[in-house]
Amino acid sequence: MAPFYFGIISACFNLNGRNVLLLCVHSLSLRFIPLEISQSVSYPVFKTQFMYTSKIAGLGHYVPENIVTNNDLAQLMDTNDAWIQERTGIKERRHIKKGDGNSTSVMGVKAATMALENAGLTSNDIDFIVFATLSPDMYFPGGGVQVQDLMNMGTVPALDVRNQCSGFVYAISVADQFVKTGMYKNVLVIGSENHSGGLDFTDRGRSVSVIFGDGAGAAIVSRAADGETGILSTHLHSEGKHKDELALQGPSTNYWVPEIIADNPQEDIPYYPYMNGQFVFKHAIVRFSEVIKEGLEANGLTVADIDLLIPHQANLRIAQFIQRKLKLSDDQVFNNIQKYGNTTAASIPIALSEAWAAGKIKKGDLVVLAAFGSGFTWGSTIIRW
Ligand code: ACO
Repeated sequence: MAPFYFGIISACFNLNGRNVLLLCVHSLSLRFIPLEISQSVSYPVFKTQFMYTSKIAGLGHYVPENIVTNNDLAQLMDTNDAWIQERTGIKERRHIKKGDGNSTSVMGVKAATMALENAGLTSNDIDFIVFATLSPDMYFPGGGVQVQDLMNMGTVPALDVRNQCSGFVYAISVADQFVKTGMYKNVLVIGSENHSGGLDFTDRGRSVSVIFGDGAGAAIVSRAADGETGILSTHLHSEGKHKDELALQGPSTNYWVPEIIADNPQEDIPYYPYMNGQFVFKHAIVRFSEVIKEGLEANGLTVADIDLLIPHQANLRIAQFIQRKLKLSDDQVFNNIQKYGNTTAASIPIALSEAWAAGKIKKGDLVVLAAFGSGFTWGSTIIRW
């Protein structure tokens, strides 16, 4: 049986000339299951039993109307439809068009509005915003407060997550902890990216720029009713020694705007993303599989229990490799990178929202989210829908 902890918090203060004693008795059922070492990876897995269950109460997504096909890109650089499809599976992606009113935060608001509608909630019900992006509207402040302002959400707190392709999984994990501990009831989680404005659409940047697209997805993480199922656990990792293998170096405090202008580099352009493609590929396929198995094992589940895996849409070849490795059928894996490219922090919520809208997720299904990306960072979320 889980031990109970009773905390008594008392405070005495003077309110309008009267002495007030504030007494708060708080009971908390916390059970720390001792450290377990996962079989597949050598990382500790902590399991904590919380007061509440969290669930995904609503989903939404938005992509710009402007469709950019592989042939469109071939007009700008030395590439072709066959190369892009063969290496990445991507047929087209969406790009914000200058003047169409979209930005990272605006797309986030559109996705959030749909998620709120699907949850049967309004922005007044939201207690906390967690916003994941690598392409914020401004260097600072972050996208969370931009969304809060655009949605007239008063003084609701907003937090930005900077974990690139695994940003949404990290953001869900943050929301999950706040809901499970009882701090918040409804958390708005957004992943949104405006990549197209910052890519190198010349031959020099072709191995990166053909992969990425713009868009946003959102989820409402809410306290579940008694007896309801929801997010079972989240599992996060990082390995900063590989930070330079997929990175945008500047402008930054390491390489500031005046220095870049003075250097005027022609080849290794710091303000375009750099990706060591094959190195990323090799690490992605290992980490994806590890973290999916880690999440399943932590819940006493196996790969056979998965009803739907939604991998971060990095590259169709990565998703297919994982599918084969885990021996999953086509019905058990959802991909939409063919239409949108890699939308980084937005890719999982866009795919999750589309899969849900298409009726591919039913009550009681085991849904697994998994991501890997720049940092390197990676993670998984195990959900009993
Ligand atoms: N069109 C045509 N040719 C191209 C293009 C292009 N867009 N880009 C590169 N090439 C050429 C290269 O110049 C090279 O030519 P060469 O042989 O004459 O030198 C050739 O194609 C092969 O280039 P590689 O970089 O070796 O191609 P590779 O087979 O590794 O494919 C890719 C590149 C698709 C990026 C691959 O490495 C990959 O999938 N990596 C995984 C990384 C990934 O998916 N990242 C997504 C973002 S990160 C994330 O979300 C986790």
